[in-house]
Amino acid sequence: MRPHYIAVLFLSLLSRGAHATLRVRQVATLPSYIENIAVRSNGHLLLTSFPTTSSIYTLDPKVGQSSVSQLPPIEGANGITGITEVSPDVFAIAAANFSLTTGAPLNGSIAIWTIDFGPKIPVLRKIVNLNSALLLNGLTTIPGSPSLLLASDSFLGVIFRIDITQSTYDVGIQDTLFAPPQPLPNVGINGIRTRGKHIYFANYAKGVFGRVPISKTASATGAAEVLAQVDPLKYKIDDFAIDEEGNAWVAAHPNALYLISTIKNANNKKWNNANPRGIETNAMYQKQVPNSVFCKYERCEAAHKNLLENAPLYVGAIVLGNVARLDALTMNVATGLYLGLRVVYVALYVNTVNRRLSYLRTLNWVASTAILFTVIIKAGNKMASQDW
Ligand SMILES: *[C@@H]1O[C@H](CO)[C@@H](O)[C@H](O)[C@H]1NC(C)=O
Ligand SMILES: *[C@@H]1O[C@H](CO)[C@@H](O)[C@H](O)[C@H]1NC(C)=O
Repeated sequence: MRPHYIAVLFLSLLSRGAHATLRVRQVATLPSYIENIAVRSNGHLLLTSFPTTSSIYTLDPKVGQSSVSQLPPIEGANGITGITEVSPDVFAIAAANFSLTTGAPLNGSIAIWTIDFGPKIPVLRKIVNLNSALLLNGLTTIPGSPSLLLASDSFLGVIFRIDITQSTYDVGIQDTLFAPPQPLPNVGINGIRTRGKHIYFANYAKGVFGRVPISKTASATGAAEVLAQVDPLKYKIDDFAIDEEGNAWVAAHPNALYLISTIKNANNKKWNNANPRGIETNAMYQKQVPNSVFCKYERCEAAHKNLLENAPLYVGAIVLGNVARLDALTMNVATGLYLGLRVVYVALYVNTVNRRLSYLRTLNWVASTAILFTVIIKAGNKMASQDW
């Protein structure tokens, strides 16, 4: 097998939320491809792969290649797919013995395990065998339900619910959007992630990215909805992560990364047109969108108000300058500079979250106000020196 590469994406952010520049850097080379990545609290990565890799690779991305190592093998498995953190430094994994001829797990070989990194030597524990599963793929937790795990089955097109403390499992969520396309075998539901009151999913061979509202006990509380449709003939969508602003970063075969925003839809496309500026309306938006997005909205509002507040001074300065017949060059330079500074002002206001950088905006405001006063004073001086 050819060596495969793991690359870590670094976001250089102009501001939080602006995905301005993406820089890709190679961190290490591993002997097999990577199915899934989990990040430990110490920053180390846990990497899964299948088939013919019966243990987890670990890697410190700050150190790179020399830090790559392997944990002890998982009994009865030659491959690991999903991985997710179930409690601090305890990770659950989906493991199986994959047939080297068909590539599918052998009957009865699929199991959920946990790895506890608390003790000096990590402790492996088998939780439960999933005898009715065919191909476990994505694995995730439910906020507020620490004993439950959800696992997608790409062949069956269902999400299994696993109780870690009881060592039991059943089908938790079922939807036609999870199903693999015909003819079988084909891979349907792949990556899954919970966020808020929804489980998000990617259907690999159908190119559907969607979500289902769920309860704390992992039952669907409403209908599934499609958030994005990727052309499955061009790209197959796989696992993904959702950042704090609600953007899903979706890995796609063979070589793409999709960024799918869940924000607009997280608000259910609701816009209160009856009372768009009501205090209650604002409170409603505040509850429905991530904090960083709401703060940006507040800064937009503040910038808008500042433009309105400065408008009378601007209009006054222009009228006075014209009445006093200030020369065209002075007027053009003053208004051009003023408007240019105002545009920069809005950009600074909307994008700056750092307190120290925010003084740039204040400086900009002082400069633009000084221009208007210069025009007014010039106009006053000219009028005072003329006979009326
Ligand atoms: C997987 O199954 C095959 C066939 O039954 C068996 O020979 C092999 O030892 C199994 N692998 C592991 C890791 O248990
Ligand atoms: C695996 O199990 C399924 C259903 O339990 C059965 O239909 C199938 O024949 C089995 N396959 C093998 C290779 O034993």
